[in-house]
Amino acid sequence: MAARVLDGKAVAAAIRGELAEEVERLAAAGRRPTLAAVLVGDDEASHIYVGSKQRAAERSGIGSRRVELPADASQQDVLAAVAELNADDGVHGILVQLPLPDGLDPVAVQDAIDPAKDVDGLHPENAGRLLRGDPRFAPCTAIGIVELLRREKVPVEGSHVVIVGRGLLVGRPLAVLLSAKAPGANATVTLCHTGTSDLAGFTRQADVLVAAAGRPAMITPGMVKPGAAVVDVGNHRVDGRIVGDVAPEVAEVAGALTPVPGGVGPMTVALLLANTVAAARQG
Ligand code: GUN
Repeated sequence: MAARVLDGKAVAAAIRGELAEEVERLAAAGRRPTLAAVLVGDDEASHIYVGSKQRAAERSGIGSRRVELPADASQQDVLAAVAELNADDGVHGILVQLPLPDGLDPVAVQDAIDPAKDVDGLHPENAGRLLRGDPRFAPCTAIGIVELLRREKVPVEGSHVVIVGRGLLVGRPLAVLLSAKAPGANATVTLCHTGTSDLAGFTRQADVLVAAAGRPAMITPGMVKPGAAVVDVGNHRVDGRIVGDVAPEVAEVAGALTPVPGGVGPMTVALLLANTVAAARQG
């Protein structure tokens, strides 16, 4: 039987609709939420992602700025762009699109963003607050997955969530969020990675399996417990087609599955907008 579709596109549209009302309230009070994206170099995927974030912002009435720097920009150039946005009262959220070109240090750039404008949740203050159980901004893909599971009524509390991939944008913060003693979380979380031996032995135990490894079609049907909910964070272009980290045949085994595209991607954008609105509300 084919898996139920966890429709990130539809859920994200609902979230954007809810945000639009608050955006207008804030705008009427003279604080239209505004997001600034810093894009360094000419990575094609990054240009596409930033373009879709900006279009989504504009559709929700959120102000949108873009700062483009050339691929040979220096660390100082990037830090100067961030400093300018930090000082600009008309900007509430700052996003520096990753990956940065070789030679630039993303950690130093994240450290330089005003934590009150860090809508990516990557500044050490925000990462520390998340770990401490007092989150302000958390990485958008991670909170997007939590929100999708909640709105699609996938049982999480008391379940076994297995995450494949320990990256700072998804796997690591998601493990913290879903293991928190909080409604919609309180799961037993296993975080698998490239050092995990017998990966399939873990993934087959998952009630909720999150594939965030960055490897096309690496989760195959034999790695999935029948009826499990599977969240596919991957987005790869292979032979001209978009594929995730989950092989398409998994739909025959899983109970629920996020499509690629149209699953996690739109949720990431919607929660980026939610963080930007929250930044304007708090700021
Ligand atoms: N590159 C891929 N995903 C992301 C994200 O969520 N934030 C940033 N800044 N860069 C990314």
